[in-house]
Amino acid sequence: MLVGKRVNLKVAEKEDVPLLAQWLNDVNFSGDYQHFPDQITKAMLEKRIVEHRLYQNEWVDFIIEKKDGNKIGWAAHYLSAPNFGWIEIGYAIAPNERNKGYATETIQILVDYLFLTRDIVRIQAVIDSANIASRRTLEKARFKKEGTLRKALWNAKGKWTDGDFYGILRDN
Ligand SMILES: CC(C)(COP(=O)(O)OP(=O)(O)OC[C@H]1O[C@@H](n2cnc3c(N)ncnc32)[C@H](O)[C@@H]1OP(=O)(O)O)[C@@H](O)C(=O)NCCC(=O)NCCS
Repeated sequence: MLVGKRVNLKVAEKEDVPLLAQWLNDVNFSGDYQHFPDQITKAMLEKRIVEHRLYQNEWVDFIIEKKDGNKIGWAAHYLSAPNFGWIEIGYAIAPNERNKGYATETIQILVDYLFLTRDIVRIQAVIDSANIASRRTLEKARFKKEGTLRKALWNAKGKWTDGDFYGILRDN
């Protein structure tokens, strides 16, 4: 368990599969800009979370919990380009818990954890260029915009959209 001031990040387990399946397949939770695989079944999530064999590369899911144990969101870190060792993060907060600073704290916890436990110099995130909330959240967590990938993401509305690369370095 990664312990923060207002939220904890619990590594997702088998018992979390039904909730994650519900969340990740719900456009109200994932948002208009989510670029993860469109739909994911419980069987796929079991392979990802319990058996760690859905993807070839490392992928770790977390449940974001408030201090009273209430589950309010999802986060993950994963190897996005294994040849380069690029570690990327993703996150979503339940609609009724947004704009309370929970995603920003989640990102800060993940960054601290990854820099403490991995021999890496950077962590990155890719967001839909129109995803203002996600951009603001990354900026508050001291990520910087590094560039734009044109038509890189297939969004929930069935359109190719530009993706902004954000990164944070170990050194600054
Ligand atoms: C992006 C997301 C995770 C942010 O979570 P959150 O807990 O609300 O984030 P925080 O409260 O830490 O910060 C949100 C910031 O965005 C700002 N914001 C939100 N919507 C905004 C909008 N439409 N225009 C301008 N600013 C906006 C908030 O005001 C806040 O900034 P502030 O603290 O300076 O006021 C949440 O909106 C979400 O789950 N979206 C759907 C999934 C998603 O897009 N995930 C990211 C994929 S890369």
